[in-house]
Amino acid sequence: MVETAARWVLQTYKHNSLHLINSLEWLDRIAPGSPEHMRLATVTHDMERAFPGPDMPVWNGDEDYDYYVAHSNRGARIVGEWLRGQNAAEGLIADVEALIKVHEFGGWPEADFVQAADSLSFLDVNIELFLGYVTSGKYREDQVRAKFIYSHTRVRIDWVRELTQPMLDSAIARLDKLLLR
Ligand SMILES: [Fe+2]
Ligand SMILES: [Fe+2]
Repeated sequence: MVETAARWVLQTYKHNSLHLINSLEWLDRIAPGSPEHMRLATVTHDMERAFPGPDMPVWNGDEDYDYYVAHSNRGARIVGEWLRGQNAAEGLIADVEALIKVHEFGGWPEADFVQAADSLSFLDVNIELFLGYVTSGKYREDQVRAKFIYSHTRVRIDWVRELTQPMLDSAIARLDKLLLR
């Protein structure tokens, strides 16, 4: 099922499938042998962004708790519906939905690993995208800086947060360099 999900992601979420596929790679590094529901949640956690609609929450650039909750809940619903269409077992669907609902926050050991994999991947492959938002004026420099910092500080597993420190430092350095131009 994970392979089918990865194919769905690649075909449907053209805008940023790299971040989702890369999140799964990070999960397999920091928590090798993770059960299917963790791997499925990780590789699909942002899929709601591939399905624009009137109920799609819009990020205003600030670290906004309500936005993250709406984004996570909508993601759980959309991935749950997709899994149901794939005839996945109800228990598996419930486990995946629960992890996607908290993928921005963590909360228990499995959720903390999914959130950590998302954070690692954000700092690994999303920096360019967010620097582009500053260049284009879509988001302000201070908003993007806060997003970078939050991707590090929110990690709840101490040794993984240490792993993200040099990634954050490099992202901040790139942002500072961009502003000097
Ligand atoms: Fe997300
Ligand atoms: Fe993400």
